[in-house]
Amino acid sequence: MDLFEYQARDIFEKHGVPVLGGVVASTVEEARAGAEQLGGGTVVVKAQVKTGGRGKAGGVKLAHSPEEAAERAGEILGMDIKGHTVHKVMIAAGAKIAEEYYFSVLLDRAERRYLAMASVEGGMEIEQLAVERPEALAKVAIDPLVGIDEAKAAEIADAAGFPDELKPLVQDVFRKLWTVYKDEDATLVEVNPLVRTEDGQIVALDGKITLDENAGFRHPDHAELEDALSADPLEARAKAKDLNYVKLDGSVGIIGNGAGLVMSTLDVVAYAGERFGGVKPANFLDIGGGASAEVMANGLDIILSDPQVKAVFVNVFGGITACDAVANGIVKALELLGDKETKPLVVRLDGNNVAEGRAILREANHPLVTLADTMDGGAAKAAELADA
Ligand SMILES: Nc1ncnc2c1ncn2[C@@H]1O[C@H](COP(=O)(O)OP(=O)(O)OP(=O)(O)O)[C@@H](O)[C@H]1O
Ligand SMILES: [Mg+2]
Repeated sequence: MDLFEYQARDIFEKHGVPVLGGVVASTVEEARAGAEQLGGGTVVVKAQVKTGGRGKAGGVKLAHSPEEAAERAGEILGMDIKGHTVHKVMIAAGAKIAEEYYFSVLLDRAERRYLAMASVEGGMEIEQLAVERPEALAKVAIDPLVGIDEAKAAEIADAAGFPDELKPLVQDVFRKLWTVYKDEDATLVEVNPLVRTEDGQIVALDGKITLDENAGFRHPDHAELEDALSADPLEARAKAKDLNYVKLDGSVGIIGNGAGLVMSTLDVVAYAGERFGGVKPANFLDIGGGASAEVMANGLDIILSDPQVKAVFVNVFGGITACDAVANGIVKALELLGDKETKPLVVRLDGNNVAEGRAILREANHPLVTLADTMDGGAAKAAELADA
């Protein structure tokens, strides 16, 4: 889960990372009040969106009074930055910047360890710097069992070329940022820019944190960091029912069991859809091993309430839960849904007790259900129905 900058700022503060005052606002009035709360002086109004390049898009603006902060907030709120609508701004105390640096820690999956990156040339163009002058971006491997201790912090500061007089300060900040990374179970902590102010402080002016949701059970407080405003409403409903659902853009609803089977079903449907003017899958939905009637009904309910869906392809491989149980699940699910079920359903079953499963569906003889013998055949039928 990616966090907003203001949430990262709060977490930094909690772990002693030096930050400036910041107040989040979702209206012009709140922005004015926020600027007053920060002392009424110079502030920066910053769009809170989970994408980079806000500054360049006009989402980071200076204001010299609460009045001006309100005006800038009015311009930024509602803006679209790379497809993200700005619902909130952060009013940040203005820093007098002498220099901008870069620092991040991330999970290096390929090397099976963590990686710290640092540069004395931070600011807005770090991606470009990494490509054009990679030598200016120090990369230091972190042993997960050791983390960033004093020696490692010194190694990073050295590799990045920080001047000696700054080293004690930046090394202390690196170690605190490591504490954020470790204690919050993050997979990314990035500060760009980390600045030296004119009065010689080292301050994190912008922060990105990605939290590892697999560790969520250790952090009940992380639940409230979720962004209800931008979450897809169908995905939110699916999550509430513990379903592995991802909304996509097409018109064929997909239900399958096992992530691998569902992924290949998406491919097969997209491929078959090419013959019907580019019909595409509408979602990913993995109902898992125990495909009970209730789970099937919940899944169908979510998929059928997607107005883009024109047909549904149920592609289930009977394993521990055999095909007859799945077929009974589908029949019961259709009963549970009753009149809500108005879109054609193509069902392909294979695996344990497949003959029994098909017999159950044939017998139920639901007017909207078509049985398919193969995955390719089912995908083609569903694409055809979605195109009708
Ligand atoms: N509180 C602040 N005081 C003074 N200047 C600031 C402040 N916050 C940001 N800036 C300036 O604005 C620039 C851009 O800010 P920031 O890094 O937050 O946004 P961004 O880099 O455009 O966004 P992103 O990191 O999402 O790509 C910074 O490099 C810095 O020069
Ligand atoms: Mg930045």
